[in-house]
This record gives sequence, structure tokens and C-alpha cells, in this order.
Amino acid sequence: MKRHIRITPSILNADLSQLDGEIAKIAQVSDLIHLDVMDNKFVPNFTFDFESASTIIENCPIPVDAHLMVADVDEIAPQYAQAGCASVTIHAEATKDISATLKSIRAYGAQAGLALKPNSAISDYSQFSDLVDMFLIMTVEPGFGGQKFMNEMMDKVRATRAIIGERPIWLQVDGGISVQTIEIAAKAGADTFVAGSAVFKASDPAAMVVSLRELAQGVAN
Ligand code: DX5
Ligand code: ZN
Repeated sequence: MKRHIRITPSILNADLSQLDGEIAKIAQVSDLIHLDVMDNKFVPNFTFDFESASTIIENCPIPVDAHLMVADVDEIAPQYAQAGCASVTIHAEATKDISATLKSIRAYGAQAGLALKPNSAISDYSQFSDLVDMFLIMTVEPGFGGQKFMNEMMDKVRATRAIIGERPIWLQVDGGISVQTIEIAAKAGADTFVAGSAVFKASDPAAMVVSLRELAQGVAN
């Protein structure tokens, strides 16, 4: 059976002054909205504090996939789960107690995700696979949209797919996903694709989401 593909547009590069309208453009064709939370500590950029993120989560017409790029993630992650996110992803490099934080995300009813920056090896974190619903392999250094896809991360995507096997753990890639790169990542074993600038800088964002899904599904195995 072919792997099920999910497309999760990132609103990082959307027009935040009219976010409801931006989300409405792609809601019907997208699986989740990817919400990049940055604190200017773990990454050199700031996006939303918890209060403004909560407003987005409450008003979002489709499930929210929160990607927390924050230093005090052990405290913040459960709040995002409690706020109603469908999934909450923490960075292995930022989290003091990975097991406890993954468990507390799940305890609030959200899917628990574990993200790795480009320099982090999946072999160092495979022991958490029973506690995660999703691995996120970053295909850029986290912090900014619009960066170049790192082809050299595909070995890590393949290694993560081997660890997951046929378990229902999502394998997400984030950074530089476009019509030029999505098939490469899908062939390596990714099934869940974040796309920011490719979607929101397209003249027809919904059509772009559809195209990305077709390309990924076409090579999924
Ligand atoms: C980067 C963020 C990404 C970003 C992706 O740190 O985690 O989600 O928005 O943007 P693109 O698709 O433009 O690389
Ligand atoms: Zn992200």
C-alpha cells in the first residue's frame, strides 16, 4: 500500500496582517497548518508569543501542527497541547527531559513530535521512538523560511524511515520543500511535508498544495 502523504503549509511566510484570509486560501486542500513558534533564543528570530499563537490555534479551521523552536520548551510544550494543537513538536536539542515532555504532550491529547536540527543524528534519539507520533527532520537550519533545501539530510531521512519501519509514526521534513525538492524527500521516506514560501509565494497557493501532494504521492512507496 502506498504511504499516505500529508501537506502542512507553514504560515511563517504568509501575510500575517491578514492571516485568516491566508489560511482560508489553503485550508480545504491541506492536512494541517504548520505553526512555527520562535523565541529569539533557540533560534535568532521571533514569531509568536503564547497568547497570539493561542488566538491563531483557536481560530484555525483545520488542525494545527505546532513546531516549537524555543529554549524553555519543557514548560511551553504542554501549554500548546492544552491549547488544542493537533500535534506539538519539540526540538531534541532544546529539551531537558525529552521523555517527560513527550509524555506530557500526549497526556493533553496532542500528537507528540521530536525534531532534529541538521547537526543532530537520529541514532542518538531512536530510543524515543515509542514515545513519538512524528519525527521531524529539518532540511534547513531552523529560524527562517525561504532557505535552500539540504539534500544531504536525505541519509538521515532514510535512517529515520528504517527506524520507524511500518509503525504509524509520521516522518516530516521542513525547509526548502518545493516542486523541485518534494519528490527527493518523498523517495527518501518522508510522508509529511511542511512548505512555507513555496505555498504562500505561489500565485495560487491551493493549486500549489495540490501539486506538491501529487508529486509526493507519485513517488511514495
Ligand atoms: C524554518 C521553519 C519552517 C519554514 C519553512 O525554521 O521551521 O517551517 O517556515 O519555510 P520554507 O518552506 O520557505 O523553507
Ligand atoms: Zn517549521
